[in-house]
Amino acid sequence: MRVLVFGASGMLGRDLLAAFSEDDATGLSSRQADLRDSGSVLSTVQQARPDWIILAAAYTDVDGCEKDPAEPWRSIAMVRQT
Ligand SMILES: NC(=O)c1ccc[n+]([C@@H]2O[C@H](COP(=O)([O-])OP(=O)(O)OC[C@H]3O[C@@H](n4cnc5c(N)ncnc54)[C@H](OP(=O)(O)O)[C@@H]3O)[C@@H](O)[C@H]2O)c1
Repeated sequence: MRVLVFGASGMLGRDLLAAFSEDDATGLSSRQADLRDSGSVLSTVQQARPDWIILAAAYTDVDGCEKDPAEPWRSIAMVRQT
């Protein structure tokens, strides 16, 4: 079983990766697959061909949300497209 974990550098993603053996799970940071870039995400998924995808990525910058309320919606819009 192949598992792809988005948000692997975050608190939840790190704990999830630790729960799988290295053979099972591949972790991705935003530098490897940015949720705001649908092409990057799709090509990553197509290459990895995972059985499961775990979305542990999230825009968690509360101050950033207040300064630019549109920013968190960019990632959500991309997830809805796919
Ligand atoms: N922490 C908990 O105990 C816990 C428990 C249950 C549920 N959750 C939920 O899990 C989610 C993540 O929480 P967290 O505490 O792990 O947050 P976090 O430590 O701030 O981690 C956020 C993760 O999301 C990634 N990310 C942010 N923007 C991204 C983008 N545009 N494209 C791809 N990856 C992106 C970050 O990658 P980079 O570091 O590369 O930017 C990082 O890996 C949230 O929805 C939270 O509500 C958390």
